[in-house]
Order: sequence, then structure tokens, then C-alpha cells
Amino acid sequence: MKNNSKVFVVLMILNTILVSCKHEIPELLNDTIPTVSASCSTDSVYFVNDIQPLLISNCAMSGCHDAITHKEGINLTAYVGVMREVRAGNAGESSLYKSMIRTDEDRMPPRPAQALSADMLTKVRNWINQGAVNNSCTSCDQTKFTYSAVIKPLIANKCQGCHNPGSLGGGIDLSTYTAVKASAQSGKLYGSVSWAAGFSKMPQGSKLPACELSQIKSWIDAGMLNN
Ligand code: HEC
Repeated sequence: MKNNSKVFVVLMILNTILVSCKHEIPELLNDTIPTVSASCSTDSVYFVNDIQPLLISNCAMSGCHDAITHKEGINLTAYVGVMREVRAGNAGESSLYKSMIRTDEDRMPPRPAQALSADMLTKVRNWINQGAVNNSCTSCDQTKFTYSAVIKPLIANKCQGCHNPGSLGGGIDLSTYTAVKASAQSGKLYGSVSWAAGFSKMPQGSKLPACELSQIKSWIDAGMLNN
């Protein structure tokens, strides 16, 4: 009995050491490669286009569920990490979705961050119920660059999680037209997304596709209209 409890104490100490170390070593996930469709179906939700940017800006920021911190062992930077929290085909049984629709203090992302919008929650739910596959599609048309149809959704999807009044990365708000316009006028918006020297590279981690950069540039050059 005595020996057993000693072994138990040693195991508990080892466990504490292991758990605390885990948070200092970046977790490199061997990710799977997405299947790419040449066009986007309006009936489908795509992991790379819709879900990953939403998770990166609302959940996988530094200090939360990124590769280095992976709070509670959850790493949402890559598909395989996301799938640990997902039961494919069943959003109602997926901790990823369930944590987002809670209304108590365990809601994700936690306050003061904003809750995900109804539109984002629908996307996550539909993506899981459609099988939670690692898919992507290409639909960007660089000749189209109105604020309402292109710029606003692009920023909502890929930037706002880190740039809203509840979570002001770098003190920058991109949650309204006025704020986005101000950022564009200061030169910072295009400087950061084009990864120009002297600006922070945005979004963190991966550069926007060339077509989306071109849309942002065209919208700015055309006078940053609220069109
Ligand atoms: C994961 C969180 C995150 C995402 C996603 C993100 N940002 Fe940022 N952003 C930050 C943080 C944090 C800072 C301030 C620290 C720094 O400069 O790295 C910042 C800084 C900026 C700046 C100031 C740059 C400068 O050099 O002064 C701009 C402009 C900006 N972001 C725009 C964007 C745009 C546009 C997007 C989407 C295409 C985006 N960000 C996506 C977190 C994020």
C-alpha cells in the first residue's frame, strides 16, 4: 500500500512536469492536403476558404489554440488538430461547435472576445454536417471589388476575429466600414496584407492569395467606396 502511494505521488509529479512542458514546445502537426475544386458551390462549406480563416482569427491566435500554446491540448492551426474536436457529420456531437454555441462563461472564444456571428456558426455547423472534409475551392474574380460583396466579407472572414473592439490586435479595429477605410487611408491596410517592408505581415501566418490582394488594391485605388 505504502509503495503504491509512493508510485502514485511520483507519477503525479511526472505528469505535472510533462503537462507544464507541453506548453513550451510548438506542436507541429503533420497536416493532410486539401482537395481543391475549380469552382465554389454555394451549397458547400470549404475548410480552407471558410473554416480555417475563421478559426485562425478567432481561436488560434497567440496565447490560445495555436501551435505553441495549444490551451487544453487544443491546436486549431491545422486540419488534423481541428479534427480532434470534430465528429464528422455530427455538429451536435462536436466539441468545436458545441463550445461556440454555449452562452455561459465556457463559451468559445471567451469574453471579452465577441461570440462568433450567426453566419459563422452556420458555416461551422454545415461544414461538420457535410462531413468535415479538408477541402478548398477557387472563386476569386479580381475584376470584382465592391465593398459589400468582396472587401467586407473578406475582412470579416480573415481579419475581424483579431481586429474588433473586443480583441484589438495592434490597437487596430476593422469591424466597420469607417474603420477599414481609415486603415486603408493610413496605408497600413495594404502595407500589411502585401507584406511590404515596415509593416506587420497580415494575416499572421499565411499571405492572402494574389487575387484577393488585387481586389483590396483595386478597391483602395478606386476611392475606398462603401459600395
Ligand atoms: C491571429 C490574429 C490576427 C489576424 C487573423 C489578423 N491580424 Fe492584423 N494584427 C494582429 C496583431 C496582434 C497586430 C499587432 C501586432 C503586430 O504588429 O504584429 C496586428 C496588426 C495589424 C495592422 C497594423 C500593421 C502595422 O504595421 O502597423 C494592420 C493594418 C492589420 N493588422 C491588418 C490586418 C488585416 C487586413 C488582416 C486580415 C487580412 C489581419 N490584420 C489579420 C493580429 C491579427
